[in-house]
Amino acid sequence: MPRVVRRTFVLGTVPVALAALLGAAAPPSAGTAGVGDPYFPLAGNGGYHVHHYDLTLRYDPSSKHLAGKAVLTARATQSLNRFNLDLNGLKITGLKVGRDTADFSRRGQELTVTPRKALHRGQWFRVTVTYQGTPAPVTDPDGSLDGWIPTDDGAFVAGEPQGAMTWFPANNHPKDKASYDFTITVPDGRTAVANGVLLGQRSEHGRTTFRWRQSEPMAAYLATATIGKFKVTQSTTRDGIRIYNAVDPREAAKADPVVKQLPSVLAWESKLFGPYPFKAAGSIVDRAPNVGYALETQTRPVYDRAPDLSTLVHESAHQWFGDSVSLTSWKDIWLNEGFATYAEWLYGEQHGGDSAQKTFDALYARPATDDLWEFPPGDPGSGANIFGTPVYARGAMALHKLRTAVGDRTFFRILRAWTAEHRDGHGTTAQFVALAERESGKDLDGLFRTWVYGQGKPSTP
Ligand code: TRP
Ligand code: ZN
Repeated sequence: MPRVVRRTFVLGTVPVALAALLGAAAPPSAGTAGVGDPYFPLAGNGGYHVHHYDLTLRYDPSSKHLAGKAVLTARATQSLNRFNLDLNGLKITGLKVGRDTADFSRRGQELTVTPRKALHRGQWFRVTVTYQGTPAPVTDPDGSLDGWIPTDDGAFVAGEPQGAMTWFPANNHPKDKASYDFTITVPDGRTAVANGVLLGQRSEHGRTTFRWRQSEPMAAYLATATIGKFKVTQSTTRDGIRIYNAVDPREAAKADPVVKQLPSVLAWESKLFGPYPFKAAGSIVDRAPNVGYALETQTRPVYDRAPDLSTLVHESAHQWFGDSVSLTSWKDIWLNEGFATYAEWLYGEQHGGDSAQKTFDALYARPATDDLWEFPPGDPGSGANIFGTPVYARGAMALHKLRTAVGDRTFFRILRAWTAEHRDGHGTTAQFVALAERESGKDLDGLFRTWVYGQGKPSTP
């Protein structure tokens, strides 16, 4: 199929620009193979938005075999003669657009779908992909693993930044958020934990099926379907948030006293950051020694081992900063990590630990050659740096500078305005700066230029 179509189908020889002027449909063209993220050029896809994912999965931990069916409900944002999804590995056994079988081809993570009939701009459509195989994690630019990571009793499933595509076909970029339904079948005795609310669980023929619903929009990387032998506890907080905890019994002695504090941590964070943005919450504590990090999977963070309280505070803070308010570009990652780290400092300060100022001072005392000053948090330079020390620690330092510049009342008003105005949506650094200036009535350009974008160690603390 030709990539460049010079004439519209409708108007024959009339040039495209004139056709557009006359309100005629543009000729259908291919959606892009990425959303334009400079650090992950193939992540996500252009030309459509996914509104809902309905994922039906069956996993056998002993053979590590996954069988899946993904039904995506999407809407074209341009007329499309083909479009891409991201899917890494696995074998596709069927693919339909609407009721029609569609042609597809695969190259690396790009799954290119050619529907039988071109889609017009604004058209709702459904894509059904059936697939199977042995999912494997992807290796990130920084060498860490993400995606579907098998464990000795199931799988640890965490997709930041790229791993969602290792277990379902997705528009794999935080720019495109959707609601999710999960139906996951595992052998009896194993538990499958996803995001949101547990709708039901039922055992038949030696297998148990868990149904989960994530109704608030979610970025693909925040989806989980972690499977293992877990001890489950459920409760409801005073604010009506449904808590579901799944803890690997081998981690329970260390994890339980921490996980138990989730309701009080969420209540404390709600006072500072605004109302908790989701209906459900909880913790998944797995034993996944080869992972080396926790992830703020939406509503229910997943931990590779028993977390300490500070880590629980961090992942919980991400529910506001990163999950409810999402990135539009991985370059802005400090909006997630700087904020979640600053939440840890604030928690310490208000619970008998060091003041945030003391934490800031100790960091500022590090020599100019320290890793902390290697690159600016607002411009990490590449995907290999998005989880580097400057993003976390110097990102938090930038927020502390903001707090001392505007005062506590204004600072927390800024945070609450941010989470309220961008709830279930997105935010950029430029929008945060504009909001901080509006709420404080101060020119904060210099502050952000130095602390978020400046190269090297700032000359004054
Ligand atoms: N976002 C996670 C956190 O800070 C960390 C994380 C996710 C991570 N994926 C990673 C860290 C890959 C290093 C490598 O809570
Ligand atoms: Zn984090």
